[in-house]
Amino acid sequence: MGHPIYLDCDTGIDDSLAIAYLMAHPDVDLVGVGTVFGNIDAHRAARNTLDVLALGGHDHVPVAVGAEKPLAGNWDGGPAHIHGANGVGDVELPRSPREPESTAVELLLRLAREHRGRLRILAIGPLTNLARALDAEPDLPGLVESVVVMGGAAKAPGNVTPVAEANIVNDPEAADRVLSAPWPLTLVTLDVTMEHVLEEPDRAALLDADRPLPRALGQMLDVYFAFYVESFGRRCAPLHDPLAAAVAAAGATPVMAPAVPVVVDATDGPGRGQTICDLRGERVGHPPRPGARCRVVLSVDAPFAPHLLELLTRTP
Ligand code: BDR
Ligand code: CA
Repeated sequence: MGHPIYLDCDTGIDDSLAIAYLMAHPDVDLVGVGTVFGNIDAHRAARNTLDVLALGGHDHVPVAVGAEKPLAGNWDGGPAHIHGANGVGDVELPRSPREPESTAVELLLRLAREHRGRLRILAIGPLTNLARALDAEPDLPGLVESVVVMGGAAKAPGNVTPVAEANIVNDPEAADRVLSAPWPLTLVTLDVTMEHVLEEPDRAALLDADRPLPRALGQMLDVYFAFYVESFGRRCAPLHDPLAAAVAAAGATPVMAPAVPVVVDATDGPGRGQTICDLRGERVGHPPRPGARCRVVLSVDAPFAPHLLELLTRTP
């Protein structure tokens, strides 16, 4: 049996890639998925998750619906121009007969107790469910092994505002709560995710695969590739969520990843949603910072796209 991972996500095209990666990784036991608003509403994210799991032959994984809005304020709806109107690039996936359970917080807490001390939490959407779980069970940090979050930008620009990344700015109050909780947390930032991309030949390889899941992923990526022309000047897809999944699964090893103080800007000014990472030690090899529990991933050991593609297209 692989390592138990609870996934919290807003499925989502790159979330779907992450789910596919986790299903394909031999050392991972995906024990549950909770969904949250973000790329799409939490109920639709759960539907997408069930359908992706079914396409990948993982019908046994429990899926639970979580937060439909941030801790403070409301949610304005997902970015259809990035992930399509249904969250999965307007691809019609075969509908799984399963229905989600309720709620993501209950599922996470149950799994944390069942896999006491071993569970890894992987969060690739807004952090609302995790913040609520901390409120419901303040001892949660002592029950889990570690937390990996796709979110934030350290030195790189943001992708929603000049300084804020989507998962953090969608619920800065929750991110603040989660990033300041006493658990070992790894933040997989835009600094590294924007450096690892799928290109057109990679998408063609997915479309050519002999199984339905990689083919569906290749179809979904059409919309995502089109959106990223604006940032890259060509059709391609940065691997935000799958790279975070690989870090959680130890399929990618952080190289430059100092543990430093990180503050989330939860004010209402232009910095709202920024992850302010204290990287002032960068020229002296980031000496230890007592009390800093958040590792900020700035680079990984190897190009990630070939590894991802290999796992997604190989015949089991
Ligand atoms: C993150 O935001 C979402 O749109 C993606 O799925 C990813 O989790 C990237 O900023
Ligand atoms: Ca996501």
